[in-house]
Amino acid sequence: MLKSGAVSDTRENAQNSSESVKPISKPGGLNGLRRLEWILDPVSYLERTKTRTPDFFIEDSLGFGVGPVVITSHPEAMQYVLTRDRKTFNAPGEFNRILEPLIGGASVIMLGGDRHKERRQLITPAFHCERLEVYGQLICDLTDAIVSNLQPGETFSARTLTQQVSLQTIFQVVFGLGDSPRAKEIMSVLTDTVDRFGSPMSALMLFFNGLQKDWGPWSPWGRFVKLRQQLDELIYAEIRDRQAHPDSSRTDILSMLMAARTETGEALEEEELRDELMALLMAGHETTATAIAWAMYWIHKEPEVKAKLLAELDELGPDATPTAIAQLPYLSALCKETLRRSPVAMFTFPRVAQEPVEIMGHTFTPGTTLLGCIFLTHQREDLYPDPKAFRPERFLERKFSPYEFIPFGNGARRCVGEALAQYEMKLSVATMLAHYRFRLADDRPEAARRRGVTLAPARGVPMIFEGKR
Ligand code: HEM
Repeated sequence: MLKSGAVSDTRENAQNSSESVKPISKPGGLNGLRRLEWILDPVSYLERTKTRTPDFFIEDSLGFGVGPVVITSHPEAMQYVLTRDRKTFNAPGEFNRILEPLIGGASVIMLGGDRHKERRQLITPAFHCERLEVYGQLICDLTDAIVSNLQPGETFSARTLTQQVSLQTIFQVVFGLGDSPRAKEIMSVLTDTVDRFGSPMSALMLFFNGLQKDWGPWSPWGRFVKLRQQLDELIYAEIRDRQAHPDSSRTDILSMLMAARTETGEALEEEELRDELMALLMAGHETTATAIAWAMYWIHKEPEVKAKLLAELDELGPDATPTAIAQLPYLSALCKETLRRSPVAMFTFPRVAQEPVEIMGHTFTPGTTLLGCIFLTHQREDLYPDPKAFRPERFLERKFSPYEFIPFGNGARRCVGEALAQYEMKLSVATMLAHYRFRLADDRPEAARRRGVTLAPARGVPMIFEGKR
């Protein structure tokens, strides 16, 4: 198993450096205060480290239950680690324990080694591009139906609206049903559950086990536990209904998981099914909703961007197919720039060195945990000049490597929903912009703020619906 304290070893090694070993430093300030800043204001924390400790830094604890970690934002280091994360490194699931209260302990996110590989092989085909085309028209229709409920002049939160789109989409992919009474109940309880961790203060509960105390239904954790129980009951009821009435024509993920057998011929247990469904529902809707909301913000904040996008959409015409929309160059660049400028995930999942490694002059002992910092990579001046500017043209002018632009991670744990998320972003944005008019409700800049383990727009992007185009 992993050697604890390996990072301290690394730091000692680094500080007693020979010429080929470069030291890695910690960000300044007291450990406890830094950890609090990281939880309550992760953007300030990361921005500060950027100036003090570019490329690599060491942190004693980020509160994931991981212990000391080396964090890198250098594409070369990311590439080194993520192209070797089945051998030189591993990607242990137990390091994602912070998510366990939300998604349980038996999903792809929590598994490691061969079981992780096997589970990925089971679920990834459902997210391949050709399978996604089935959902294209559904995403456009859902977006249209949700926006058409707005009244001209109405103020609304883009984040809340896009969450309805992404939740219903992932629901269709995972369960293959969207409008049964049980489906509606699951979606409503799921939204309430994730909203429990919507602010940095409430996210403290995820980071400090001591706050995870059920003091009754009115306490924050007690309310969460109650919602989780409700969700579990609803999901188990759906699983049991499917077991009672098998239908081999269904192509949704739940049906696939229920039909799957391990090498020794065993089916997944009910608890494993529940955890997998929860993981996909959670990972699949929160993140994408945030990304679409950020796209709406940037489009309406930058008039030139909006004008270029509208010109491209108008040229394609009103009857464009989802496939044609998804291939639009400016729209694609805009979605990429959104994920670069306002990344939803700050880090890749942890990877752990299994043998001594040297990366860019730094040596790491076995057991060293490394994290790729997506946020800081996307802010690098050497890759993205004027990184705070929102310029989709960057992605038309040059091609970035998958370690320079890395919103979905890479390697053994690369996001399984990457293609779905990008497809949904493009179709949802195109549907909204081609058919309707919106504006931002005010001129205040939208800051990125912690939402659970992700970053999201602090005010949810307040907008005004202006009616049909
Ligand atoms: C904009 C939207 C999304 C972003 C930014 C995002 C980002 C990420 C990142 C950074 C990782 C870790 C990758 C690594 O460590 O190398 C990840 C993993 C994962 N994502 Fe996403 N994701 C998004 C949407 C989705 C969707 C739509 C799904 C669909 C179900 C999904 C399911 C997952 C799963 C299951 C994993 C764990 C994979 C594993 O452990 O093997 N994500 N995602």
